[in-house]
Amino acid sequence: MSTIQIGKSAVRTTRLGLGTNKVGGTSRAGVDQEKSGREVIRTALDNGIQLLDTAYMYGKGRSEAVIGEVLKDYDRSKVVIATKAAHDPQNDMQPNNDPAFLKQSVDDALQRLQTDYIDIFYIHFPDASTPKAEAVGALADLKQAGKIRAIGVSNFTMAQIKAANVDGNVDIVEDQYSLIHREPEGEEMAYLKANQISFVPYFPLASGLLTGKYGEADRARFARFVAGKQFDAALAGVDVLRRVAAAHDAAVIQVALAWYLQAPGVDVMIPGARNAEQVRGIVGTRDVQLSEAEWNAIDTAFASFK
Ligand SMILES: NC(=O)c1ccc[n+]([C@@H]2O[C@H](COP(=O)([O-])OP(=O)(O)OC[C@H]3O[C@@H](n4cnc5c(N)ncnc54)[C@H](OP(=O)(O)O)[C@@H]3O)[C@@H](O)[C@H]2O)c1
Repeated sequence: MSTIQIGKSAVRTTRLGLGTNKVGGTSRAGVDQEKSGREVIRTALDNGIQLLDTAYMYGKGRSEAVIGEVLKDYDRSKVVIATKAAHDPQNDMQPNNDPAFLKQSVDDALQRLQTDYIDIFYIHFPDASTPKAEAVGALADLKQAGKIRAIGVSNFTMAQIKAANVDGNVDIVEDQYSLIHREPEGEEMAYLKANQISFVPYFPLASGLLTGKYGEADRARFARFVAGKQFDAALAGVDVLRRVAAAHDAAVIQVALAWYLQAPGVDVMIPGARNAEQVRGIVGTRDVQLSEAEWNAIDTAFASFK
């Protein structure tokens, strides 16, 4: 699998990673996600994926703990762990970017992950009061101390990203981005490229809508992503993904992920998976290379979301 350097850091990882917000804890439907989560992690690592994207918020530490348990059977140096914190359990899970809170959060995550370093640590959400350079300064101290290897921010506004990076310390930004949520393509991606900051999208499959397995009957399920005519436009775009997928004898999800991997502003991908079979589907993306005409046809099919 192709690899990439994260920002200006020494971290190198496969461009195809795995999101683990469905690993650990219990799903809203009451399904035990720990057993399937272990299998999901193993399947990813056994098939060449290096990057695992987790967070304290995923199962309030359980996702990190499950990853820590599984990693005991693997060579730690070949895995890239990305985790995040900000939600403060002492304050109703409100975001907290206070340097002391972030430093404690890293120590707590290291314990749950049963490791002595985190490859990429993100501030998960901005808080209202901490100056962003101060928050990132705390992470720079942790990088210096060897506890983390790269610094990330997530869900920051453009102004907050710039403030966070005032000393050039930010290596990677994680934000919502997909074919139906294309705002980062403007100022954000240009700024990140100019400042050698990597970009990783979350919700790349719009939580499943872009996998081709949902249709008209699922309008309500995806209302938080697209409503009304936008939902129709998304389904029309998925039809184009489906046509390209048929030409490659590939799955729709593989064509969608290949599109991002060939997009100019995207560095790494972290699609989420519910089970091992879905992970295998994600891994199959490495065999799909879109022609320029196919890439452009998909770009045009989702142009109304720009
Ligand atoms: N930084 C942040 O604030 C933030 C916020 C959200 C997420 N994230 C990260 O981003 C990652 C990705 O987000 P996400 O998992 O919520 O959404 P996503 O990647 O957009 O979609 C994941 C969904 O796609 C479907 N899927 C995956 N592989 C498939 C396959 N091979 N065949 C068919 N369907 C497949 C599954 O849908 P079904 O469930 O319908 O089966 C799965 O739940 C998360 O795991 C997390 O690490 C970060």
